This record gives sequence, structure tokens and C-alpha cells, in this order.
Amino acid sequence: MKRKSWIFIFIVIIFLLGGRIVPAQKVNFDESKVPAYELPDPLILENGEKVTTPGQWWQQRRPELLRLFEEDIYGKVPGHLQHMSFRVRSVNRQALEGQATRKQVTILFTGDDNGPMMDLLIYIPNKVEKPCPAFLGLNFYGNQSISKDTGIFVTRSWVRNNEAYGITENKATEISRGVRASRWPVKMILEQGYALATAYYGDIDPDYDDGFQNGVQPLFYKKGQHKPAPEEWGSIAAWAWGLSRALDYLEKDENIDAHRVAVMGHSRLGKTALWAAAEDQRFALAISNMSGCGGAALSRRRYGETVERINTSFPHWFCTNFKKYNDHEDSLPVDQHELIALIAPRPVYITAAIEDRWADPKGMFLAAKYATPVYRLLGKTGLPDHAAMIPGHPVMGTIGFHLRPGKHDVIDYDWQQFLIFANKFLKK
Ligand code: GCU
Repeated sequence: MKRKSWIFIFIVIIFLLGGRIVPAQKVNFDESKVPAYELPDPLILENGEKVTTPGQWWQQRRPELLRLFEEDIYGKVPGHLQHMSFRVRSVNRQALEGQATRKQVTILFTGDDNGPMMDLLIYIPNKVEKPCPAFLGLNFYGNQSISKDTGIFVTRSWVRNNEAYGITENKATEISRGVRASRWPVKMILEQGYALATAYYGDIDPDYDDGFQNGVQPLFYKKGQHKPAPEEWGSIAAWAWGLSRALDYLEKDENIDAHRVAVMGHSRLGKTALWAAAEDQRFALAISNMSGCGGAALSRRRYGETVERINTSFPHWFCTNFKKYNDHEDSLPVDQHELIALIAPRPVYITAAIEDRWADPKGMFLAAKYATPVYRLLGKTGLPDHAAMIPGHPVMGTIGFHLRPGKHDVIDYDWQQFLIFANKFLKK
């Protein structure tokens, strides 16, 4: 063969591998090519009956929807912990130049100091009335990555390698202190009177596909079980479960008002925040930053990331049953507007960025809109009628939304809106 042909074959192979064998033409960024689709109605029961009263929603439709999301998308949590305990490992009342009290609490999932555990870092504003409201969110690189504060314990869990952050051999070091500080404007949050609690998602389940041998899933295996059943939890459901365990601790902390905790997350952790709020009604408010496919974006639009693509790139995120819907979105019994509806009547804020087409900004806006009938049934506004996707013009009903210029990230602008939104609902 000629040299040119070899180069051509080489390029084709690299292209296919880069797309993880899913042909690249399947990723659609062209609005005119979004297929026609019909969304399931959040207010019609599986038996075809219409839901017209809040009672029917709470007693029939909501449990039905929750079960469908559990069994077909995220997976069910198979049990309860019997011996979980909390260890307050450090308290510093003069953290961040006296602005905050910094607590570090280890949640021992089995009560065993050598067993699986999650480190919760909490900053509590010093100069406000207690108990105060809080934001709770998972982070991607360990608690030490959110601030330069040298008192934060460096995570000892497996962390994704990142040379720029000094993480090699999957171990975080001092170099990673504050590398993600731009995503966590701690001072701004404290100044507004909120505590901030965060934990590393890899403490709950390391984010790679190992057939569920590590992470919390094995804690619940029955005799002879080696992996979750097809309707049992993947990593997103495990991370969401971890957020609920963090809330279990916050309920015990006298400085925090656990009835006013907003659960927040970005991207895969934005999917996680939505699912956590759907599963656990103790969360007072939810914030999903650019959560995209499997988060706030409608799956049936197949714009940007698709069900097949996400299940191929991240086979461990959802339950095995979800794979049945690869390229079969129309047979899904639910769509993601109904995930938002499961949070009703509690406030939920959804964001998108113009350059983040992968996460389908319009698909997220439409999901917010189509969740609204459930909010209205429960006497709330949902997304206001005048809402539109205008960059720089956030809308804030019980469902809030903003589209901002720029990329897939969490920036100060996003947090400024989260705080305005939270102030409407969580301030006394
Ligand atoms: C990938 C993935 C998204 C996810 C994102 C993230 O882009 O395809 O679904 O939201 O990673 O978590 O950063």
C-alpha cells in the first residue's frame, strides 16, 4: 500500500478510538436535525389516568416515577447502613482569617476506622446567627483542591491523575491545594451567611469502571453477589447516596440548619445533585450546573451527548438497565423533565453555557419548562411563563435557569446566581 493510504487508515482508526467506537456522525449539534419526539407526561399515570390533585401526585405518580428512575436509569440503593458513625477530626474556630469555623468530620460508613469512609469539610461563617443554611456539594479532586487553606486534610483516596495538579500514581499531594478554588468561592458564600460543606466524590466511589469492586457498592452485596443487579445503583446513585450521608451528619451539627441545605453539583456531579434531591426530600433546594445528558437535559432530543454515548464512555455511571435505551430513547418510560419534577415543590436551579453544546442547553431549558406543570399542581410557579434562554438574563421562579456565555465550568457568575436564588428561599 502507498504511504498515503496508511496515513488515511491511521487517521480513521484514531478517529474511531477517539469517539470510543461510537461513530462521530451520531453526535448532533444541529438543532434542525433534532428528531421529532413525544415526551411522557409527568401528570399521566402509567395506567393512563390523569393526575389532577396533589394527593394523586404524592400517593401515586411520584412513587411511580421515582421507581422508574431507580430501576431504569440510576439504580436502586440496595439497603441501609447499620453502623455508620461520625468522627469530628478537627475544629478550627479561626479559619480563613477568622471568617469561619472549619470542621473536618469523617463519616465512617461501617463505623470502623479502617473501613470505607468519607471526609466532610465544613466552613461555617462566624459572624451569623446559628444554625445557618448551607450549600453541600461534592468535589472532583479532594477537599484540599477547593481552597489554599493549609489546614484541610489532603485526600488519601484514589484520585484521577492530573500532572498540572501534581497528581501522579492516583495520589493527591500538597501541590493540589486550591487547584479548584475558582469553582468554590468560599468567602463569597460565607459572606452571604451560608456554610459550605463538601466531600470528595471518590471517597464514595472512585470514578472509573472496575466492575464495582471498590466504592460503597460491595458493602451491600448479598452472599455470592459480585456486582450490582441490573436495577441496582451505579456510581451516580452512589455519589447521591453519599450526599445524603453527609446530610445525616449536618442534621447532627448544631451550627447548621439541616432544613435549609442546598445540594449543588457541576456536570456529572450536577446529575448527582439532581438525583440526590429527587431521592432525598430532606434537601431543601437543588442546583445543577451544566449537568447535561442523564442530568437536566432531555434524552429524547439526542443533541450533544446521547444515552448511548454516555453509557459507552462511562459504563459505571448508571444502572445496567439504562443500557437498554442506547439509541432507543423513545422507549424510555421517563425523560429528564420528570427528574426535575421529582424535586417539586422544592426550588431547583439549572444552568447552561453557550459553548457547552455537549450538555444541550436547550434540552435543559425545555426540561425545566416541561417539569413546570407539576410545580403548578403543587401551587408553585416552576419556570415563569416569560422565561426565555437569554444569555445574562437568569430567570428565577421555583425553577430557575441561566444560560451564560463561556464554557463548561463553575465560575463566580454561576455562584452569584446560586446565592441570589438561594436567598429567595433559604433566608429567614
Ligand atoms: C463528560 C461527560 C459528561 C459529564 C462531564 C463532566 O463530558 O460526557 O456527561 O457531565 O464529563 O462531568 O465533566
